[in-house]
Amino acid sequence: MLKGKHIILGITGGIAAYKSVTLLRLLVKAGAEVQVVITPSGKEFITPVTLSALSGKPVVSEFFTANTGEWHSHVDLGLWADAMVIAPATASTIGKMANGIADNMLVTTYLSAKAPVFVAPAMDLDMMAHPSTLRNIEALRSYGNHIIEPAAGELASKLVGKGRMEEPERIAEILSEFFASRESLKGKKILITAGPTHEKIDPVRFIGNYSSGKMGYALAEEAAARGADVALVSGPVDVKAINPRIRVIEVESALEMLDACLAEFPAADAAIMCAAVADYRPAERADSKIKREGCSDVELRLVANPDIAATLGKAKRPDQKIAGFALETDNEAANARSKLERKNLDMIVLNSLRDAGAGFRTDTNKVTIISRSGSVREFPLKPKSEVAADILDSLFSPE
Ligand code: C5P
Repeated sequence: MLKGKHIILGITGGIAAYKSVTLLRLLVKAGAEVQVVITPSGKEFITPVTLSALSGKPVVSEFFTANTGEWHSHVDLGLWADAMVIAPATASTIGKMANGIADNMLVTTYLSAKAPVFVAPAMDLDMMAHPSTLRNIEALRSYGNHIIEPAAGELASKLVGKGRMEEPERIAEILSEFFASRESLKGKKILITAGPTHEKIDPVRFIGNYSSGKMGYALAEEAAARGADVALVSGPVDVKAINPRIRVIEVESALEMLDACLAEFPAADAAIMCAAVADYRPAERADSKIKREGCSDVELRLVANPDIAATLGKAKRPDQKIAGFALETDNEAANARSKLERKNLDMIVLNSLRDAGAGFRTDTNKVTIISRSGSVREFPLKPKSEVAADILDSLFSPE
């Protein structure tokens, strides 16, 4: 999978830089074209001569070559790359990346990179456990960067704990698996619903809910990154879709969402129903703002909205799949399973409101995926981007 891929290998000043030589060897052997970018302190640990000999390219470290004035364009490099991997990534570089402190070629290249970025932290255990490091790593994760978690073991300081850079063989494998997954949904069309619906009471008021759309948008980004064409039917949210393979269809109410889904579903290979659709809408919508003067109480009569997932479930062809979500407070697994049956879904993603960090408005989620065949997989609390990957893996390559 690495053959012909353009990879920027960023090396920073840590003892683990000696392992970067092996990583470079492995990437080149697998057929990748590798451009090494090294920080000034990285050169204290490993010599550019070794790196340029192995990569077959001059190593880039400064913004320009002093004697010729030749400028090294971090912008061009950022565009050239199919992936950037920073291994080892020190606490200092992670902090600079997290905060946009672009005082060297590596960080400017990182800020210019359009390609996916992998970060393999390596540092002493106390530095690794410091709240500042943890916060910066979380920031990188929230930018969509992939963190290659350091392992626990003996460190250069002779202390034992978490901070060892992941082994080069595993890093090369992670990159290879990543490129394989990028192609896995090529040619597939996926319909995803996201966000809340707003059910109008009058021109200025509505009934809504706390859904932020983050989970649905994370699913859309992950599916598009794997090569799928995504139709994202979205209620009113603040999140924006980034990947150009995502076509956003903005809707407001459940009825509008249903219409959009009915139009899109026939062409879809799969639908993922992630929206928090309002169960009820006001029976009447006032044409002008309901006034307070003259009426102390207002009674709202609500009527049931259609169940979009169940409607698509009825229309589903044998070559189509549907995944739904269930947000439960009690009797979770049993309720989720009966929802799966009732709506004719192939898979249901259960998130419990009891779990801290799961559900509405958070950047993380903790889910259990239940398939039609009865398999139940529980996942730990993870960023929504990673939960999205688990959901797509389960839907398209069930075990
Ligand atoms: O029945 P409940 O609302 O708990 O079901 C949740 C699942 O059904 C979610 O996948 C949600 O997107 C979908 N749903 C829907 N239309 C509705 C209600 C829920 O598509 N009116």
